Amino acid sequence: MAADGGHHAIDTMLLEERRYPPSADFSAQANAKPDIYEQDFDTFWEREGRERLTWFEPFSKLYEWEPPYAKFFLGGKLNVCFNCVDRHVDAGRGDKIAFYWEGEPVGERREISYAELLRDVVRFANALKKLGVEKGTPVAIYMGMVPELPVAMLACTRLGAPHTVVFGGFSADSLSGRMNDMECEVLITQDQAWRRGGTVALKEVSDEAMAAAPGVRASVVLRRTGNDVPMQEGRDHWWHELEDGVSDDAASCPCEPMDSEDLLFLMYTSGTTAKPKGIVHTTGGYLCGVSTTHHYIFDLKNDEDVYWCAADIGWITGHSYIVYGPLCNQATSILYEGTPDFPDKNRWWEIIERYKVTILYTAPTAIRSHMKWGPEYSQKHDLSSLRLLGSVGEPINPEAWIWYREHIGGDRTPIVDTWWQTETGMILITPLPGITTTKPGSATKPFPTIEATVFDERGNEVGPGGGGYLVLKKPWPAMLRGIFKDPGRYQETYWSKYPNLYFAGDGARIDQDADFWLLGRVDDVMNVSGHRISTIEVESALVDHHDVAEAAVTSRKDATTGEAIVAYVTLKGSAEASVEKLQELRDHVAKKIGAIAKPSNIVFTPELPKTRSGKIMRRLLRDVAENRPLGDTTTLADPAVVEEIKHRAEDETSDDS
Ligand code: WTA
Repeated sequence: MAADGGHHAIDTMLLEERRYPPSADFSAQANAKPDIYEQDFDTFWEREGRERLTWFEPFSKLYEWEPPYAKFFLGGKLNVCFNCVDRHVDAGRGDKIAFYWEGEPVGERREISYAELLRDVVRFANALKKLGVEKGTPVAIYMGMVPELPVAMLACTRLGAPHTVVFGGFSADSLSGRMNDMECEVLITQDQAWRRGGTVALKEVSDEAMAAAPGVRASVVLRRTGNDVPMQEGRDHWWHELEDGVSDDAASCPCEPMDSEDLLFLMYTSGTTAKPKGIVHTTGGYLCGVSTTHHYIFDLKNDEDVYWCAADIGWITGHSYIVYGPLCNQATSILYEGTPDFPDKNRWWEIIERYKVTILYTAPTAIRSHMKWGPEYSQKHDLSSLRLLGSVGEPINPEAWIWYREHIGGDRTPIVDTWWQTETGMILITPLPGITTTKPGSATKPFPTIEATVFDERGNEVGPGGGGYLVLKKPWPAMLRGIFKDPGRYQETYWSKYPNLYFAGDGARIDQDADFWLLGRVDDVMNVSGHRISTIEVESALVDHHDVAEAAVTSRKDATTGEAIVAYVTLKGSAEASVEKLQELRDHVAKKIGAIAKPSNIVFTPELPKTRSGKIMRRLLRDVAENRPLGDTTTLADPAVVEEIKHRAEDETSDDS
């Protein structure tokens, strides 16, 4: 079987004949030269490892591969904070801006130089030490896009304390679940976050989460909005009070030498069960992988560029391409706290104009929102500073690609459509600007040294044009080192479909020019606005509601968010289907998981379509959601059920708020 829903993408591909070769000017100055594709794996990564990173003790061996476990830069000792901050200041570059920060409230701005960043990190690391945080202490971070978020992450890495950053839109249950799994001892949060002029109650949610995570003995609370929040004596500490009297001199808090393979952070991501997976990333390979890809793919010239990755740090994209990769490369970045349409839809373009942003990296869902709002907003602004655009998070449809290039890139800038995952840590399939001839909708080629291909169900390589499953044949420095505390699931999820090969869970095809076209997930994972959400996780949240007997979740295509969640719900005997009930269930999902997981439609139905063995047939529900003719219904226990659901789905008013 080809990827679910892949046929559409395949049709598009066959019609897509536009080609964008690099301009001679771009090529002449590009960081990547064509011979980069000829370099062999060992030479390439040994050089990048030695030259791009600063080691306290050099590594003695590039890598070790005992499937499914890889190690990189064996024997090497280093510190991520030292590489991202200290060494730039030591080299006399302290005045260089690390972040231009724009708060969501208009006019609130900060410029943070590398020297200031170093002082902020040292001060906060010293404050964390007062709470007993040291090498190996697991720390959770639940914050908005404020400068103190990268400061908190870097302070942890300085001390050798592994962190997990939980996206600020997640619920108390999601936060406590992650903190319990990682056995976090300390939580770093803020009073509230700004969002579209309103506030997000981060501390309140943290309190609820800490109540369910007894291992968390202390919290640190940044004052952001200044509104009153409850503080529990002895447990909760104001950030600024904890910093009272501590030193900001780097010598007072030396960077902990870490083994290349020491845990750097966990990033939880949805899989095909209700429990998110704690993806393990370690120190040396991860840092080398993200900084190397950042250098070549974004063509970073750190003296000239103003780089903006408009993701949230709470996701892997923010970890790799806002914090660790760019800082390691001494980039000057934009950090923006708010949404693209606050206070109005000019906000992004004002930021680009004000700071003369040269590189913009965002997601197709954001591009499609701007498309929907119309080009009149970007047209009002001078975007001529832009010289490179990037996309990540889901397949970008050719229309959005072209719109991005024409309306944002002035029909001038190359676009890098970058494929990767939380698990891969770094970009793996991407054009290299200045080298690659791009095609709208194609992520083009594996990054140099990466071996990717497409397999059919039986594990045979699929020839040009055919669809199948994306697999990776060789390890790479930033690859995950496992699922935290769950080696069985690690083996099962990624390494069991094809022995000793990494199964990405994405459909793909390779065309005549050996360019890759990604076709979306092939498992029970949805991609809503570039966020991975498991169908099972949403089902569990629904069934958790006292009126719900059974739930099945699927998705349909959506012009803005890529996919939209559709839930089919069977209520318990006495409960009545109503618009209020629908709202109640949506809110319940938001409470259990977070607002990003709210179904956009709920169809109430007395029965779900099941096979005779009792398995819910999601494929059929998806056909209903997509308004497609129904596939094979012969295996259903009761074929009448699905017809009934179809009628109900047609009657249902959708709620896309
Ligand atoms: C999808 C985000 C097509 C894919 C970095 C992958 C993409 C999942 C692309 C990972 C792209 C990401 N083209 N699909 N350029 N980038 N994806 O873990 O399905 O949040 O498996 O990592 O997003 O999502 P994650």
